[in-house]
Amino acid sequence: MTTQGSVWLATATIPQYDGILADKHADVVVVGGGLIGLTTALYLQQAGADVVLLEAGRLGARTSGNTTGKVTSQHNAIYADLLDRHGPGKAGQYAAANQAAVDEVAALADRLGIDCELTRTPSFVYSELPESTLRREADVASALGLPAHFVDPDEVGLPLKIGEAVRFDDQVQLHPALYLAGLATAFTQAGGRIFEQSRVTEFNTDHDIEAVTAQGPLVRANHAVVATLLPIGLTGGYFARTRPSQSHGIAVQLPVEAPRGMTITVDSPVRSTRPWPGGGPNGLIVVGGDHETGAEEDTEAIYQSLVDWVGTVWDFSAQPEYRWSAQDYSTPDLLPFVGKSSGSPLLVATGMHKWGLSNGTVAAGILRDLVLGRDNPWTGLYDAGRIGDAQAVAKLVKDNLHVGKEFAKGRLGRMLKGGLDHLEVGQGGLITTDDGKTVGAYRDHDGELHTVDPVCTHLGCPLHWNNADTTWDCNCHGSRFAPDGTVLDGPTTSPLKQQSAPGEPPA
Ligand SMILES: Cc1cc2nc3c(=O)[nH]c(=O)nc-3n(C[C@H](O)[C@H](O)[C@H](O)COP(=O)(O)OP(=O)(O)OC[C@H]3O[C@@H](n4cnc5c(N)ncnc54)[C@H](O)[C@@H]3O)c2cc1C
Ligand code: FES
Repeated sequence: MTTQGSVWLATATIPQYDGILADKHADVVVVGGGLIGLTTALYLQQAGADVVLLEAGRLGARTSGNTTGKVTSQHNAIYADLLDRHGPGKAGQYAAANQAAVDEVAALADRLGIDCELTRTPSFVYSELPESTLRREADVASALGLPAHFVDPDEVGLPLKIGEAVRFDDQVQLHPALYLAGLATAFTQAGGRIFEQSRVTEFNTDHDIEAVTAQGPLVRANHAVVATLLPIGLTGGYFARTRPSQSHGIAVQLPVEAPRGMTITVDSPVRSTRPWPGGGPNGLIVVGGDHETGAEEDTEAIYQSLVDWVGTVWDFSAQPEYRWSAQDYSTPDLLPFVGKSSGSPLLVATGMHKWGLSNGTVAAGILRDLVLGRDNPWTGLYDAGRIGDAQAVAKLVKDNLHVGKEFAKGRLGRMLKGGLDHLEVGQGGLITTDDGKTVGAYRDHDGELHTVDPVCTHLGCPLHWNNADTTWDCNCHGSRFAPDGTVLDGPTTSPLKQQSAPGEPPA
């Protein structure tokens, strides 16, 4: 029996906090209780600021609690690309920032006494091709000062015919939910205040900054950090400067001992592995199946492709114990956006390229130093106000043309055959009702029917049904919604409109 949901969130207790009931004042309001929000809030509170953190749902429950848990400067094979695009100065800064973040996470966990299954292990990037780009990647990464070595492919420890491999020494793997729980506890012990189930819907920035919540109360502060994976609403136009990508994970017991190191392939499709300590010596986590959010017709097939890969590589009939998915955003020039948002006093952090445990720790240091008026060596590299080079601008134009086409599709998604009465338990999708309306419908496991208007409340793009995760996903900028219309992710702050099914009273 496979449990749908993150193995990390299922095996950790993250402290829970009440919702906001009255207006608050603070030096800093941090919006978002993932890795970046919690780390930034902790840093600032420890530096003497009075910090309030507002989280729309539960701490760590979105992307940060659904990661692979690798804290590494080895971001697949990125360094040759960074060198070619940004030159040795910036590529070296990125390497140094992320290697420092690996050490910082280990030091923070140690200093705060966070018991999060943290171990130091090598991390491998490999290719099954006899000759790939990896020799150059090893040379570039090593020249930039990283602990990178072009190694014998047998070292990777996967039972595959590997052509080339690069090892980064002494990287970190941890249980992300336990780490996040430790950050939250340390933050509140230092005097920080957390309010969950408190979604920020807008910022007033005329005098002080006011973070207004959907529940009504607001937080007034001198500074605001927006750590919501992607800044909300239209903030800074980041929704149009990034792309959302979803990945899927499984936790599985192999018939033999799992490889001890962390691995990722530079080949397509991406397969990223690491040991799963909770599954014993044979436990393995596999993450991959990357695709743009809302762009995959059958997400069940993506999970199945991961299961099939494990079954083929280890030659057995694999049955995962957990499976889950999450998304992250990428920027056109490979560097995250961290710092002062274009056109507003808000501080933002987005575009971590699925390497936000290290990049996000760097981001938290930058955000802290911007609030405190201190210098930080990486502020310029991650500058949130940059436009980017010609290649980045060309990619932006292409991405936005794609979004324009998606928007123009309107409600022309694939319709389910038959009416609402034919919808089986566990089934969802777009349906044309007898009166000619298009509704987004899902029949849950108790038989209850949920019907929503399948139009994204951010900027009106059509939504796509994600059959494995049972969510409504927007391909334009990554907003995601539960079957009842509740916001899960993305720049939107409003739930989907309920639609009444024929014969039911209007919603
Ligand atoms: C499948 C997968 C595996 C990954 N594995 C790794 C890995 O091994 N190593 C690595 O370095 N990186 C990894 N990443 C990337 C990394 O997980 C992310 O970059 C990082 O977690 C982002 O942190 P965050 O705090 O920005 O986002 P989140 O964890 O998503 O936190 C944002 C928070 O903001 C809240 N929020 C949103 N809107 C509002 C609002 N309006 N008001 C209040 N709160 C709001 C959300 O509820 C959420 O809790 C992975 C990503 C994916 C998708
Ligand atoms: S997320 Fe922007 S339109 Fe849906």
